Amino acid sequence: MFAALYWINAVLTLAALPLWLLAGQLTGRLRKARTLGRLRRTSWAALTATLLALLPTATTAALIGGALGSYGTVVMADRLYVQFPMILAALAVVLVKGLPGLWRTARVGGDAAEPVPVERARAAAGPWLVVPVQINAVVTAISLYLWWISPPLGRSAMVWWAVLLVAALALVVRQRRRRDALGSESGGVTRLVSVMRIAAASVVVLVVVGGGLVWSAERSRLPERHSANGHGDYDLGGGPDVPRAAAGHQHAVPVAASGRSVDSLTERDLSGPVRRFTLTARTARIRLDSGRTIDAWTFNGSSPGPELRVRQGDLVEVTLVNADIEAGVTLHWHGYDVPNAADGAAGVTQNAVAPGHRMKYRFRAKDAGSYWYHSHQQSAEQVQRGLYGALIVEPGPVKGADIAVLYREWGTDAVAGGARVFGTSDGLRRQRISPGTPVRLRLVNTVNDPVDLTLAGSPFRVAAIDGGELHGPGEIRGKALPMAAGGRYDLTFTMPAHPVELRRADTGGPALVLSPDGRGRAPAQATNGTFDPASYGTPTATPFGPGTRYDRHFTLNIDSSFGFFDGRPALRYRINGRVFPDIPNMVVREGETIKMTFVNRSDADHPMHLHGHHVQVLTRNGKRVTGASWRADSLNVAPGETYDVAFKADNPGLWMDHCHNLFHAKVGMMLHLAYAGVTTPYDSGTATPNQPE
Ligand code: C2O
Ligand code: CU
Repeated sequence: MFAALYWINAVLTLAALPLWLLAGQLTGRLRKARTLGRLRRTSWAALTATLLALLPTATTAALIGGALGSYGTVVMADRLYVQFPMILAALAVVLVKGLPGLWRTARVGGDAAEPVPVERARAAAGPWLVVPVQINAVVTAISLYLWWISPPLGRSAMVWWAVLLVAALALVVRQRRRRDALGSESGGVTRLVSVMRIAAASVVVLVVVGGGLVWSAERSRLPERHSANGHGDYDLGGGPDVPRAAAGHQHAVPVAASGRSVDSLTERDLSGPVRRFTLTARTARIRLDSGRTIDAWTFNGSSPGPELRVRQGDLVEVTLVNADIEAGVTLHWHGYDVPNAADGAAGVTQNAVAPGHRMKYRFRAKDAGSYWYHSHQQSAEQVQRGLYGALIVEPGPVKGADIAVLYREWGTDAVAGGARVFGTSDGLRRQRISPGTPVRLRLVNTVNDPVDLTLAGSPFRVAAIDGGELHGPGEIRGKALPMAAGGRYDLTFTMPAHPVELRRADTGGPALVLSPDGRGRAPAQATNGTFDPASYGTPTATPFGPGTRYDRHFTLNIDSSFGFFDGRPALRYRINGRVFPDIPNMVVREGETIKMTFVNRSDADHPMHLHGHHVQVLTRNGKRVTGASWRADSLNVAPGETYDVAFKADNPGLWMDHCHNLFHAKVGMMLHLAYAGVTTPYDSGTATPNQPE
């Protein structure tokens, strides 16, 4: 809804601009009418253009003040404080002054051929008639810029009020001069002069706009080498819960020369059973169930790569070998809170592993649950091409059926053709399970957008989200399960005597049919509403609650804007008005309690993913989460939504925090959580082997 309203407003504003320019132009020309007939015609034309322009503008005002405004001042803040009052003010003057003036001029009496008397001409050139129409063009232009190019944010938004004021004054002064020149002998410029003026103005506009474009394109170029250590610009987490003085006091801390390197933050305790795996990244042709083949990038020849299943408490040792992936690869354990050195973020915790090279990852499987792994070098492309697989940590011996299902879509962007798959199944896959068997389906969404899956044929429970078991999950039936990009849901149920089917909540896509005899389908059913983790399960003691005092509070305002990223035009999703690598590191100290607020003011879903930590979701849209403790590592923040989350800074390192729509990350929606004193020797950029996204 928010996204639709957002674009409706953006497009209406675009439509309004030419109309207001035309109306302003016509109104400004009233003074040039030589005859009464001409004066009337021009007035009618100006009146019509103004009324036409009023439609889209009044609609946008109504939408901002109404439907969009209802998303609240957190989401709509500067639009409500800047755009909205500007539009209202401009509309008010044109309704009270401009339109009545035009109306009077349009209805002036007298013979059409008669010359316009000087007083009439002066009235038609009055600033109170002309400027109200023209100021709407100015406001619409500002509004257009704010919708498409740079959404207003914080105090800098006030600049636009200044721009508007100066423009209004300039227009009034110009109009007074023009009016006063009427009737005086020297008045009026020749046609040639006016054409030259218009030409000069056009050149100035072209140079300014063109120059601005070239300048922003150049300025957006990424440095050839960039360090995640940051460059003196840090976010120390202000906000309501952090006394200003305390935050300011931290200023000197961030990068201590005596800092620990990310390389030193490895798994300490190497005791206990070791599970060893080797994952070899290589190009290979894979085959889907339908027989269709895809040239993929694989681990050990398959995509998804091998399912890594370990037992809670095991020491996991994975050797990554790169056979032939030119750009290099890494392994990132998505959702798993590994020691920083094993995080697999190219250019942050390691160099990408070049073809012919290998690297060992080691971490303790201390948390049970469903996770996944993927390359974190050029991840937008590499995950898309197939470099990912499941990581399952079993809490103990598995009873019954325990099945990991990785949802993905072949055939968007990087790979031609299209197929939605569970694993490698692009159609119907069957599995025989006898009635009474406890079943756990571990769903993983590996694509860049949210997906709604559903289970038909049996009631079920959502036992876990993002690897975290939920407390007291109730039985639900037929609900659509909205899965964030990168997110996981574990579903549990007891196998009935008839078929049960996992599929997309809409039609299309693969289906996994579990049945006692390997036959049949679950009956088609309409989905029964959407599952909401915010009110599911029974409340339990949580580490963070209403009474928690936070050491730091970071706010991430997400906006959409057209602009340039690395010299190329792009629709970017900026965080607090900036994109990678200019978004300041969020700096914390070990042991601190951190609150984070996501505000999605943009038109797209943003599955926010913080490495190395799980966050507890506190509120959504200002309302407290009421169900079981909801722990997430991939949290979809939909357009118009706000979330407060909290976590304990208990895993020192330098951690990526980014949108798991990897295409968004690739155009700059990426920043770092940095523990004070932790530094990285690695760099990213074209002069390095590392491009994390
Ligand atoms: Cu699954 Cu930083 O990513
Ligand atoms: Cu995003």
